[in-house]
Amino acid sequence: MRLLDYKTIGLTMKIAVSGKGGTGKTTLAALILRYLLRKNYKPILAVDADPNSNFGDALGVKVQSTVGKVLDGFLKDKESLAMGVVKESLIDYKLSEILAEEKGFDLLSMGQGEGPGCYCYPNTIIRNYIEKLASNYKHVVIDNEAGMEHISRRTNGSLDVLFLVSDPSMKGIRTCKKLEDLVAELGLNIKKTYLLINRVSNETPPQIAEEIKRLSLNLLEIIPEDGNIIDHELRGIPMLSLEESSPSVIKINEAMAKVLS
Ligand SMILES: Nc1ncnc2c1ncn2[C@@H]1O[C@H](COP(=O)(O)OP(=O)(O)OP(=O)(O)O)[C@@H](O)[C@H]1O
Ligand SMILES: [Mg+2]
Repeated sequence: MRLLDYKTIGLTMKIAVSGKGGTGKTTLAALILRYLLRKNYKPILAVDADPNSNFGDALGVKVQSTVGKVLDGFLKDKESLAMGVVKESLIDYKLSEILAEEKGFDLLSMGQGEGPGCYCYPNTIIRNYIEKLASNYKHVVIDNEAGMEHISRRTNGSLDVLFLVSDPSMKGIRTCKKLEDLVAELGLNIKKTYLLINRVSNETPPQIAEEIKRLSLNLLEIIPEDGNIIDHELRGIPMLSLEESSPSVIKINEAMAKVLS
């Protein structure tokens, strides 16, 4: 278990990835983390905020336990809902135990609770815990679940960068717009929002390009359909091991260089 002293080690940059289901959020989050690792922008905290966790697979990390499982343990005992400082510290401790430690980064997987209990109060503790935890890292990369709920529930807290990921489809683009609108409506503290169009073979269809313009989305980069990603997926190789020359890696590296410049 890594000993964390909750001292800020410098400015932490929080980056999150959201968008429609199956557009490549997890894959691109892994490539973003890959970029940060190669640039030596360490340590990094990876957060798998998708209850159907698979960020670990993309990063080549075996996930032993999740936040959901820890909370289930606490919620089994109804009394534990009346939590005080001691219980909160205990939850903090239990959460620090489930942090998967890798070279240059740690992974925290949210998972999901199985019980019918109310997770509202513990969720607040988790949010506080992640905020405290984040200050121990140079960068935080959050892989969100598909859809809007994590935005409406404000589970990411404040963010420096939100990447909205879409495939080259009208539905994907419009989902990104809805996410952007919701962020504005709720007044979330997100400094920059960028659009990434993923899995583009050849060129972006002109209708998609027009829709992006019409909706005033902040297009940062177009990521090509990459046979190496498909090959890695089929062979069960983590996306972190993709070669520097892979078309998707080249484009994510370019995107990140722009974001961090
Ligand atoms: N640029 C790409 N080229 C080829 N295949 C890709 C690319 N990006 C993602 N994929 C593939 O698309 C599929 C979906 O990707 P991924 O799991 O990253 O999407 P997701 O948005 O995280 O999905 P979910 O909403 O289920 O969490 C995976 O099989 C992945 O390997
Ligand atoms: Mg995913």
